[in-house]
Amino acid sequence: MRISIIVAVATNGVIGRDNDLVWRLRDDMKFFSDTTKGHAVLTGRRNYESIPERFRPLPNRANIVITRNAQYQAPGADVAHSLEAGIDCAKALGVEELFIIGGGQIYAESMSKGWVNRLLITHVDAAPEGDTFFDLGLLSAGWKQTAIVFDQHADDRNEHAFRIAEYHTS
Ligand SMILES: NC(=O)c1ccc[n+]([C@@H]2O[C@H](COP(=O)([O-])OP(=O)(O)OC[C@H]3O[C@@H](n4cnc5c(N)ncnc54)[C@H](OP(=O)(O)O)[C@@H]3O)[C@@H](O)[C@H]2O)c1
Repeated sequence: MRISIIVAVATNGVIGRDNDLVWRLRDDMKFFSDTTKGHAVLTGRRNYESIPERFRPLPNRANIVITRNAQYQAPGADVAHSLEAGIDCAKALGVEELFIIGGGQIYAESMSKGWVNRLLITHVDAAPEGDTFFDLGLLSAGWKQTAIVFDQHADDRNEHAFRIAEYHTS
């Protein structure tokens, strides 16, 4: 099973503020949706709860939420109590690819464990204030950019320009 991280990051590393996103990028959302459909997504409990209730679990893909709360329930989703258990859950579901979809804590732990095969990073041309980060400095530690998947200028659908790049371990 391939494990991919999918994340949108500002030039200053910001990915979120007040448990929400900090931009409106409709074509990046579309890319996220098209790319993860039919696979499994693994999310931290905070990121999961930041998705409006009517949109979760995300449709047409297995949703795995990780929390340390043994009582936690997420109807329609699987719940696991560690990153390892979340990955095992995806393997048990038989999916070919697992997308780690955040947020900050989950990205950081997945990057540090070295289990991720591929990164899909939306580099957003903005430097907003935020309280949650993805450490872009990690890219210099063994990751090689293998493709630019998408290049988008700012327009009425997308608040900022962005470029989606794919990375593999070198
Ligand atoms: N720009 C992007 O691409 C992007 C993508 C996703 C999210 N975000 C942003 O990221 C922010 C949320 O990130 P966050 O760092 O605050 O929270 P998070 O990573 O989504 O979730 C953290 C929670 O996950 C659980 N958790 C973390 N590590 C665990 C472990 N090892 N084992 C079991 N459970 C574990 C804990 O839940 P319990 O407290 O229940 O134990 C913890 O409170 C939001 O602002 C969101 O909008 C941005």
